This record gives sequence, structure tokens and C-alpha cells, in this order.
Amino acid sequence: MIIVYSLGGSVIAAQDSAGLKRYAETLREISRDNQIYVVVGGGALARECIGRAREVGASEALCDSIGILATRMNAALLAAALSGAAPFRVPESYDDALDASKTYRIVVMGGVSPGQTTDAVAAILAEHARANLLVIATSVNGVYTSDPEKDLQAVKIPRMSPKDLARMMSQIELKAGSRSPVDPLAAKIIERSHIPTVVVDGRDVANLIRAMDGTHDGTEIRS
Ligand code: UTP
Repeated sequence: MIIVYSLGGSVIAAQDSAGLKRYAETLREISRDNQIYVVVGGGALARECIGRAREVGASEALCDSIGILATRMNAALLAAALSGAAPFRVPESYDDALDASKTYRIVVMGGVSPGQTTDAVAAILAEHARANLLVIATSVNGVYTSDPEKDLQAVKIPRMSPKDLARMMSQIELKAGSRSPVDPLAAKIIERSHIPTVVVDGRDVANLIRAMDGTHDGTEIRS
């Protein structure tokens, strides 16, 4: 299978070195039978830098560019933990990522261009690579009817169509560093290409494997 992971920065940047090695080990294990791409998010580092940039008057596009640097920093860290199983030089474009996949079974990258998040990068990369599965491994354990951190009535949706996901995510504000389980652009890409997608809690590294065989307790997005 060809699998693209969108690994939240909030997941990977929160790891100590033992945690990072666990993620690297799990990715190596998955790559024995699969070609995988991992797009890493910016997490707290991105949020902090974007916040400061906005305070000093940076434009939204510049804030995004600073966020991208944070995603690439986290990607480089994961690539380092993979010690040679993925290229150390983080690809900065889809073409470079596809090129790297000719040599490596694991390719790790961060953001690409302003106006989106790494979920969208992962969805676009899934189109380019003709991936069989897109796994959004984030700090929420699925898509909820509303934000579970703010609404006690929020209910997890175990299965939904790409169309419903796109409709739900289109209501979320597009701003540098804004929070949502799946970026609205990623949702539109998933909808247009019918990419089989799973949203799981990436803080449990075992969910990276469970996402492949349907034994996870996240959200399945399928037509
Ligand atoms: P993330 O993908 O980490 O966004 O990119 P996020 O929604 O905050 O995700 P988590 O918390 O890591 O799961 C961080 C920021 O970097 C910019 C955006 O400003 C985004 O909010 N970015 C990232 C881009 O502008 N383009 C990209 O391709 C990627």
C-alpha cells in the first residue's frame, strides 16, 4: 500500500527522545510492507512563532511562512530519529518528495506553501502519490459533531462521507495557526479524489498501525 500520514505537530513535538524513537521504529515497521510519506505539523513551535510574528505586525502570509519553517524543523527531527531510513534533507516540494520515494520507503516532509496546513499538504501528496490511504494522526481521536474541548454534547462520528467532512470543515476559520481536526482545504481534496481517509489519535503510536486495518476507534472517511 501507499500510505500518507499527516502527523500533527502537537503529537510529534511533544515527544521526548524515547518517544521520537518509538514513532521512528513504528514507521520503519510499517514501511517494511508499504511505501509511506509522513507530513509533520508545526505544533506548539509553530503556534508560538506565529503568535509572535503577528504581534510584530507580520502579514498572514508571512505568519504562514514562519509556520512552515516550524513544520520543517519537526520533520527534520523525525527524519533524524529515522537514522537513514528517510532522507535527512526534508523535501520542500511534492516533486522532491516523490523523487525521494524512489530511493526511500519513508519520506518525511513539512509544509509547502502559505494558506493551508500540513493536512492539506498530506492530502495533495496523497493525490500525487496515488495513495491508497491517508491517515490524519492528530491530538483528537476522531471527528466530532462539534469541538469536544468546548462542547460537552460533542459526539464522535465513527464513519462519514468525504462530502459531509468537506461541508463540516468549510465552516472553520482559515487563519495561520487556527485549530480544526481536518483543514478545510484537505477536506475538499479528500472529497474531489475520494481518498480513503482515517482520523485517529496520533498520541498513541499504535494507532498508526491500527489505522491501516480498521481496528482503530477514530473516524473513517469513505464514499
Ligand atoms: P500545521 O499543519 O501544524 O497546522 O501547520 P495546525 O493546524 O496548527 O496543526 P497541528 O497542531 O500541528 O496538528 C502550522 C502552521 O504553518 C502554516 C500554517 O500557518 C499552519 O497553521 N502552514 C503549514 C502553511 O502555511 N502551509 C503549509 O503547507 C503548512
